[in-house]
Amino acid sequence: MTALVTGGTRGIGLAIVEELVGFGARVHTCCRNENELNGCLRKWDHLGFGVTGSVCDVSIRAQREKLMRTVSNLFDGKLNILINNVGTNIRKPMVDFTAAEFSTLMVTNFESVFHISQLSYPLLKASGVGSIVFISSVSGFVSLKSMSVQGATKGAINQLTKTLACEWAKDNIRSNAVAPWYIRTSMVEQILSNKEYLEEVYSRTPLRRLGDPKEVSSLVAFLCLPASSYITGQIICVDGGMSGETKRGDIMVQAGSICRDDRWSHLGVTALVTGGTKGIGHAVVEELARLGANVHTCSRNEAQLNACLHDWEMKGFQVTGSVCDVMSQGQRVKLMDTVSSVFSRRLNILTLNDKQFLEAVNSRTPLGRPGEPMEVSSLVAFLCLPASSYITGQIICVDGGLTVNGFFAKL
Ligand SMILES: NC(=O)c1ccc[n+]([C@@H]2O[C@H](COP(=O)([O-])OP(=O)(O)OC[C@H]3O[C@@H](n4cnc5c(N)ncnc54)[C@H](OP(=O)(O)O)[C@@H]3O)[C@@H](O)[C@H]2O)c1
Repeated sequence: MTALVTGGTRGIGLAIVEELVGFGARVHTCCRNENELNGCLRKWDHLGFGVTGSVCDVSIRAQREKLMRTVSNLFDGKLNILINNVGTNIRKPMVDFTAAEFSTLMVTNFESVFHISQLSYPLLKASGVGSIVFISSVSGFVSLKSMSVQGATKGAINQLTKTLACEWAKDNIRSNAVAPWYIRTSMVEQILSNKEYLEEVYSRTPLRRLGDPKEVSSLVAFLCLPASSYITGQIICVDGGMSGETKRGDIMVQAGSICRDDRWSHLGVTALVTGGTKGIGHAVVEELARLGANVHTCSRNEAQLNACLHDWEMKGFQVTGSVCDVMSQGQRVKLMDTVSSVFSRRLNILTLNDKQFLEAVNSRTPLGRPGEPMEVSSLVAFLCLPASSYITGQIICVDGGLTVNGFFAKL
């Protein structure tokens, strides 16, 4: 795997470089300060990391172009991983921003990211399996004092994350963003040296502490691994629960705890699942039955249906079945008569499973396919590891980009 990490000599970028090297990636990085870069390169060389680097100010267009020529030469025109990490901040009330300050933030935080992504596209595509991770911020979700412009640039990054997930899915390039709250780095050293401010930050953070760069780099690395292959278009906060501590979040948590038992049971519920002997329909029958539902299913193939019914009986599931071709109106009417009598005229769940439905799902999903159970369990396992110790309160979709897909006409 080959990777470009912008701003890899300090803070979050440095942790990402070292994390990716730990997973065996060949990494190139850049920054403005040549001495600092050379110091890092010597250290990495000594450790046997084989990281390369260039001096580049990403706020200057010509330097971005030169950087990408270097990367292309180094990695034979192929890049698997692009981490758009560089970002800066100027804190002041919105009305006090000068045109030059506004421009500095827009160019460094957003224009550079947009352009580097554009320049990286042919390399990511050529690699066959590409992944972009943007380093955003919670300021892109919630309003933070004196951060109007920085927040707007991060909001723009969040939207770009979603758009690229849909636009580049066809090239097998995934696009995700990681949005940190306060992480101990040189960027926030000065503001956090104010004890009162630090106390306010703690009181606003459910985990009651700052994050460590390694708690960001672990998620970034996860998002570049095959284990996250069905995650795209997501913006995930690494924030000790900060962004989830809103009124809406509280209500959701309370509602969840009140309803927990009901939410996880289908006891007493009746369900009809068409086409339940194979594929998704089969999985749906088993999922519902496992949760206690009485399920009726149908199939055109009697032998296959009987084999499934036998298997479900062995598993202790309450599943009945009929032979039915749902293309035939007469057979559909007969099926519904059977369902009505089996369930005493009461049906809670109807799942229509057919090829057209699957095609409709695929066409609406940027990655163009359903996910595999292992693509969900890998994220679940990651969220249970110490590596995700500053992630809490997050709802992460593993959906091939479905939930961020607004309208991408085929024309
Ligand atoms: N730390 C936090 O609490 C926090 C919270 C939310 C989001 N973030 C985001 O996380 C990212 C990294 O922040 P950090 O805290 O790790 O910052 P940092 O400690 O200041 O490190 C920034 C890195 O980027 C390089 N850099 C800065 N400007 C550059 C430019 N114009 N061109 C090329 N390289 C440049 C720096 O090297 P040179 O100075 O030598 O160029 C350094 O290697 C940023 O996008 C930031 O907005 C951080």
